[in-house]
Parts: sequence; C-alpha cells; structure tokens
Amino acid sequence: MFKFLKGFGSLLKNEIAIDLGTSSTLIYVKGKGIVIDEPSVVSVDLYTGKTISCGAEAKRMLGKTPETVVAKRPMKDGVIADFEMVQEMIIYLLNKVLEKNLFVRPVVLIAVPSGITDVERRAVRDAAILAGVQKVHMVAEPVASAVGLGLPIEEPVGNMVIDIGGGTTEIAVISLSGIVVNKSIRIAGDEMDEAISSYIREKYRVAIGEQTAEEIKINLGNAFPTFPEEKIEVRGRDLVSGTPKTIEISSTEVRNALRGVLNEIVFTLKKALEQTPPELLSDIIDRGIYLTGGGSMLKGLADLLMEEINILIKTTEYPRNCVVLGAGKILENLDKYNQILIASSKTMVKRTEFID
Ligand SMILES: Nc1ncnc2c1ncn2[C@@H]1O[C@H](COP(=O)(O)OP(=O)(O)OP(=O)(O)O)[C@@H](O)[C@H]1O
Ligand SMILES: [Mg+2]
Repeated sequence: MFKFLKGFGSLLKNEIAIDLGTSSTLIYVKGKGIVIDEPSVVSVDLYTGKTISCGAEAKRMLGKTPETVVAKRPMKDGVIADFEMVQEMIIYLLNKVLEKNLFVRPVVLIAVPSGITDVERRAVRDAAILAGVQKVHMVAEPVASAVGLGLPIEEPVGNMVIDIGGGTTEIAVISLSGIVVNKSIRIAGDEMDEAISSYIREKYRVAIGEQTAEEIKINLGNAFPTFPEEKIEVRGRDLVSGTPKTIEISSTEVRNALRGVLNEIVFTLKKALEQTPPELLSDIIDRGIYLTGGGSMLKGLADLLMEEINILIKTTEYPRNCVVLGAGKILENLDKYNQILIASSKTMVKRTEFID
C-alpha cells in the first residue's frame, strides 16, 4: 500500500485539477500546468495485495501478467469500476505530484461524467478523501471541456461541446454557466475497440487483444472513406486451431466495424440538437460545435458529423487536454465559476436530470 498523504490542513494552498478518465488520468497543478498524463491502469501483486505500478508502466503489463499479478483498468464507462484500485491510483499519482509538498493536503477539483449517479459520485469523492485530499470539488466534464476550450460559457450564447473519451461520449449545450442540454452515453473509444475485436473474431475467427484493437483503430480506423484504402497485418490467435495467425485487414473493413458505434454517437448528437432551444441552436449554427476527447481523434470523424448534421465541427490541437485544462482554470477562479461546480450548484441540478 502506498503511504497516505499526511497533512495538517495547512493554510498553504495546494490546488490540483484531475481528469479521472476511463483511458487516462491527467493532473493539473495550479501554477505548473499539466504534470501527469498517464493511462488509468493499476497493477497489483495478488499475493501481497501491493500495488506494483500505475500508469504507463502498468499499461505495458495489460494482458501480459503472470498469475500472481493483475493489471487492470479500474475505471469503466467513465466511472469507478474498482474502488480500491482507483484509490491506489489517486494516492500513487498524488504522491508523485506532491513529492516535495507532502504536508499540504490538496484541494482538488475532479472532472466527472455528467451522467454520474449519486453513488458513483460518492465513490469518486471517497477515493480522493482516502487518498489524503482535504476538499473535493467536482465539475461535469463537458463544462470543464468548454472552459478549457476558452468558450464564453457564462454568456447567454449556445456553446456546444462533444467530448468522446474512452468510456463516455458527452454532448452538452452550455449557456449562462449552466448545462441546457445534456446527453451522456457510455459508448466511446473503448466500444470502438470492442467493435473491431468482435468484427475480427466473427469474420476471421481470430482473437486479438485490447491493445491490438486500439492500435488498429488509431492507425487504420476512419469514420469517413479515405483514398487510397489502407491495409495492415494483424496478429492474433486462431479460434479454431488455437495457433497464432496473421490476417490482413483494410480501412474499409474497420470503418464498417465502427459503423454501429458511430451511428450511436450521431444519433445522440441529433437528439441533443433536437432538444436545443431555437435561439441557442441559431448561435450554434453560427459558431460551430467543438469536438474534444481522445476518441474524437478518429480520422474523418469531424467530416462524418458535419455531413450528418450540416453544422461546422471545430477540432482542437490537443483534444485530450481540454477537460483538465478547463478544470484547472475553474480551480484558479473558483469564485467566478462557483455556480458550475456540481456539489454547490443549484442551477445545474435544476437543469440536468443526471446530477443530484
Ligand atoms: N488517434 C486516435 N484515433 C482514434 N482514437 C484515439 C486516438 N488517440 C486516442 N484515441 C482514443 O481516445 C480514447 C481516450 O480518450 P480520452 O483520453 O479523452 O479518454 P478518457 O478521458 O480517459 O475517457 P472518459 O472521458 O470516457 O472517461 C481511447 O479510446 C483511445 O483509444
Ligand atoms: Mg475524458
């Protein structure tokens, strides 16, 4: 077990923003910027119960551990699937961040999916408190993302953000510091990987690992036809003979495999637009929709969405950083953004069905 962070509730401030994601955890420290960007993976020795590693090092172990070690992704669909492991991960990462400053218990702002339930929210908070955090604030991911993008969320204009992560796709329209329309589905990058694995299993009778499926998606996947068609070789295990097998797959095949997941995302986006009040919709048509999150880096995705809804889709250079940068900005201006925090925001509770 990692040592608990000991502190005396000092007057000194130690403020940290965390994007506790299904695929990766990013940490922003006030005054320093993003200091951690690691996969949300923990490896544990089953005999001793001790955490062996977290982050990139643990991710390299995924699917390759001996019987005595388990490497796991403790977050699923944007929320905590394994409480103890998430706690270990938070302790490990905070220890790393607070190296020279262990006596100051940090105040943290954690970005959470907007569709999070009460129980899930408590689990996130408790994990942080057990990790030695003094006070936990929370903000909905799309709100943090919009702030990270520099959108004028406090003004009476429609700001629309789509955040496609590993576990959740969040679509929100924000105006006057509140979420006016909110769609959160537990379908995102992970489901794309699963769709690729199932396609290969069904078509070629070959089993591939999670990481291989992700590599195929990143290297060959696209949402919109590209020419010339690309092909790559993929190694897996023949499900009939049990022996290793190499197959060749094309970008068209991957696009077809991803169609179901992409359709769900398009469907949700259309639903969100349908529910957007006309005045805000008019702003959105003028200003475009912002696409963020690692899953949005799928080639051709912006083109597909634009074709489907006929509204400009704007992409950003670092789509994976928007949430944590926004959370950092909120933390640095807590007074200004007080009303968008989940725990203290009555406005937000009224406007979204998901929270509280
Ligand atoms: N170039 C790429 N093309 C397609 N997908 C990508 C690319 N790079 C990263 N991804 C995918 O992005 C996803 C992770 O995105 P991100 O880091 O935003 O998720 P997260 O914040 O951890 O998850 P969530 O917000 O759902 O909890 C993974 O599914 C990963 O495979
Ligand atoms: Mg995310």
